[in-house]
Amino acid sequence: MTRERIVTGGQLSPEEDLVQFSLRPKALNEYIGQNELREKLKVLLEAAKGRGEAVEHILLYGPPGLGKTTLAHIIANEMKAKIISTSGPALQRAGDLMGILTNLNDGDILFIDEIHRLSPFVEEFIYPAMEDFKVDFVVDKGAFAKVINMPLKRFTLVGATTRAGMLSAPLRDRFGLYYHIDFYPPEDLAEIVRRSAGLLEIDIDREAAMVVAGRSRGTPRIANRLLRRVRDYAAVKANGEINSEIAATALDVEGVDSAGLDNLDRKLLKIIIEYYKGGPVGIEALGATLNEETDTLIDMVEPYLLKIGFVQRTKRGRVASPEAARHLGLSLPDNGPQQNLF
Ligand code: ADE
Repeated sequence: MTRERIVTGGQLSPEEDLVQFSLRPKALNEYIGQNELREKLKVLLEAAKGRGEAVEHILLYGPPGLGKTTLAHIIANEMKAKIISTSGPALQRAGDLMGILTNLNDGDILFIDEIHRLSPFVEEFIYPAMEDFKVDFVVDKGAFAKVINMPLKRFTLVGATTRAGMLSAPLRDRFGLYYHIDFYPPEDLAEIVRRSAGLLEIDIDREAAMVVAGRSRGTPRIANRLLRRVRDYAAVKANGEINSEIAATALDVEGVDSAGLDNLDRKLLKIIIEYYKGGPVGIEALGATLNEETDTLIDMVEPYLLKIGFVQRTKRGRVASPEAARHLGLSLPDNGPQQNLF
């Protein structure tokens, strides 16, 4: 079952996309957080620019909503290059990719989102393009079949994936650079909230920005979304004034609690704690009990719960932590199997 969650790191609607797009930093020096990554990118891009060369192929990986697409656009902007964006699921046939590749110019950035979802056939086709800047395609059939070798310009492939482990090894190996984007600490998110508030002409004080940040699951896309919900609530209920109390109430009303958890997270934790006695329980069993796709749980729900230590992954399945139980006001069974695991 797919449902719209206010705390999803994924995109919700085209209208929301437009707002999120307008809030994106366009240059590295506008980008907040991920300091190590930002410094590495700065050196890399300056060096490539100095040599007048295209940047090596880059793989960005990390949970949804942390800014992989934003970074791809920043890379293009900083290199003064054109960016062509597509995604793994959109490139189902080799011909789809062929058209794009043969139209690329020197230095262009080809951004492929969800690159782990490329079909194996397209993947084969992309190897020589990445490695030797050429594509081979077969014309005609049977005895008349001929391989035509077509040279490509020196482009840069920027791939984004939520799960580096799902990329085939040969594809992964063809990237010269790998960058992991991690969840943002609340202080960085608060700064992002204040920057976005400035752009949207929303008056928000430091403490209120911190409340929004603390409930945004380390994810800028969620922070920007919650900020707008708080603004709406304040406009209707508090004459537009946003302080920390109003921000907290607005988000309570939305079902987002002080740890940034929503109904689905709480339900998942409750099922592990009460139904499976704290765990361990397999992710498939959890998906079935919650009537939720396993992939959704793995990509959208679990990463943040793992990050804050509310869930732990063990060989035998998922386990809820005592902190998770405390947060929900529940208690873990005394002799539950998970006791031995901590
Ligand atoms: N908006 C979304 N992500 C951002 C970031 N990392 N820095 C500044 N603004 C952002």
